[in-house]
Amino acid sequence: MLALIWAQDENGMIGQAEGFDGMPWHLPNDLKFFSRITKQGDIAMGRTTYELMTKAPLPDRRNIVLTSKKDYQAPGALVVHDKQDILDYAEQSDKPLFITGGASVYKQFLEDADLIYRTVVHDTFEGDTFIPDINWEEWELIRSEKGVVDENNSHAHTFELYQRKG
Ligand SMILES: NC(=O)c1ccc[n+]([C@@H]2O[C@H](COP(=O)([O-])OP(=O)(O)OC[C@H]3O[C@@H](n4cnc5c(N)ncnc54)[C@H](OP(=O)(O)O)[C@@H]3O)[C@@H](O)[C@H]2O)c1
Repeated sequence: MLALIWAQDENGMIGQAEGFDGMPWHLPNDLKFFSRITKQGDIAMGRTTYELMTKAPLPDRRNIVLTSKKDYQAPGALVVHDKQDILDYAEQSDKPLFITGGASVYKQFLEDADLIYRTVVHDTFEGDTFIPDINWEEWELIRSEKGVVDENNSHAHTFELYQRKG
């Protein structure tokens, strides 16, 4: 089972390629959600996203890094060089594989994904990286849950789960 998981603002913005120092919003609830969901399986991401993570590899799940650099080193992670390596891994695994970004990788795996976990932050932020266009006609919203807004999570947000229509 292959799932995409991301957080975006109301404009579909997911981050900044330049000058990244964390997500554009402060939302610990979403980080906890991400951690809880992805620990159910393993994660795969592009080299840029891997290098943007302050603590990598993330614990308690296999981290797979996609790069064209043949000599790339990512201690503790599995480095692969082809999209098909990730599809094969997901096919052979008895656990879900979560694609955790970034934009270029979401775009490549959209056609292969069975599920989308999308957190929508109900605000707009500065950023330059956007989720690719998605034909939502192909997807059914099967869960939608409002996140709790409190002193640590000041932005309204919704956790959505989409399943590819049969
Ligand atoms: N909001 C969210 O949930 C979220 C989550 C993740 C990331 N992001 C954001 O996404 C942005 C990064 O996205 P991005 O599109 O710039 O980079 P990316 O997708 O993370 O990584 C791109 C790199 O992955 C490798 N790659 C991708 N496809 C490949 C393929 N088919 N074969 C071999 N290597 C491949 C290449 O690495 P090499 O150059 O080494 O060959 C490529 O340069 C950042 O702004 C980040 O903050 C947001």
